[in-house]
Amino acid sequence: MSNQQALVDIVKAMATRGKGILAADESSGTIAKRFKTIHLESTESTRQQYRDLLLAAPGLNDYISGVILYDETLRQTTLNGVPFAKYLSEHGIIPGIKVDKGLVALPQTCEEQVTAGLDGLAERFEEYKQLGAKFAKWRAVFKITDCEPSDVAIHVNAHALARYAAIAQAAGIVPIVEPEVLMDGCHDLARAQVVTEKVLVKVFEELHAQRVYLEGMVLKPNMVVAGLDCAKQPSVDEVAKATVTTLKRTVPGAVAMIAFLSGGQSDELATLHLNAMNKLPDLPWTLTFSYGRALQADALATWAGKQDNVTKAQAALLKHAKANSLACLGEYQ
Ligand code: 13P
Repeated sequence: MSNQQALVDIVKAMATRGKGILAADESSGTIAKRFKTIHLESTESTRQQYRDLLLAAPGLNDYISGVILYDETLRQTTLNGVPFAKYLSEHGIIPGIKVDKGLVALPQTCEEQVTAGLDGLAERFEEYKQLGAKFAKWRAVFKITDCEPSDVAIHVNAHALARYAAIAQAAGIVPIVEPEVLMDGCHDLARAQVVTEKVLVKVFEELHAQRVYLEGMVLKPNMVVAGLDCAKQPSVDEVAKATVTTLKRTVPGAVAMIAFLSGGQSDELATLHLNAMNKLPDLPWTLTFSYGRALQADALATWAGKQDNVTKAQAALLKHAKANSLACLGEYQ
């Protein structure tokens, strides 16, 4: 079987109708922030307990086709001693791995950032493959102000995303390409649309230039929403239309799967937006979810670090996973 066919087969399984991706790949710094909201110290053991709660939730594979793990989690086991990647595979869920090394300052810009992690990436992919990962994720971020994102920030981040994607595919791993235009700020919907369009055009230009096989990748974009501090918040239908219009202008139909990040939207709004998009006609790609916060926030708060709450927390995760599964079909009420 050719390398390309193997990539397509993984994408097909990830894009199973009515299923999405659970992003549980918070770095140690980010998960510590999340745990702070429930007054829980982040240790290797509490992180294992929390990831066990999420990944071993009974019935998760009804709605979730893949999970993005953090390096530490890929090396950990369930509380019953089964490596997480093995456990997921045995339960019909594809394990993936976040491979970027986070954001570093981009010199000569006004506090813009570029994603690090290309050095040694090919070697890391070989190890991640041995550990069971079938797909990967790399996130670039773009902030909106009156004069940002700058052309240089768009260029270097798009270039790095494509470098990563090409290296992943050479290793037989499906790259999730995640260019995230942030929701922070007071920009309106129209500005978010212009910026997202500009970013995606550049990302696909770089993907083409670096010969990334589009059928063997997944795009993980932001939805086109107004800034969190914008006084005029658009309706659900306006967001759906702006997002699909932007994607149709920029994303080739060869990309089979687009899986949105939630980006700080409430879990309910993220679901409503996805549902409204999937009601629109003539979508050339599968539109699904790859949420972190919008799937986990309720479960984390319900758990609150207490063993007694595990079952209730798993039910909260399943509730949101099911809602978004329905939203993939345009059937969420
Ligand atoms: P959110 O859905 O919380 O934005 O997280 C998705 C993700 O994977 C960010 O990289």
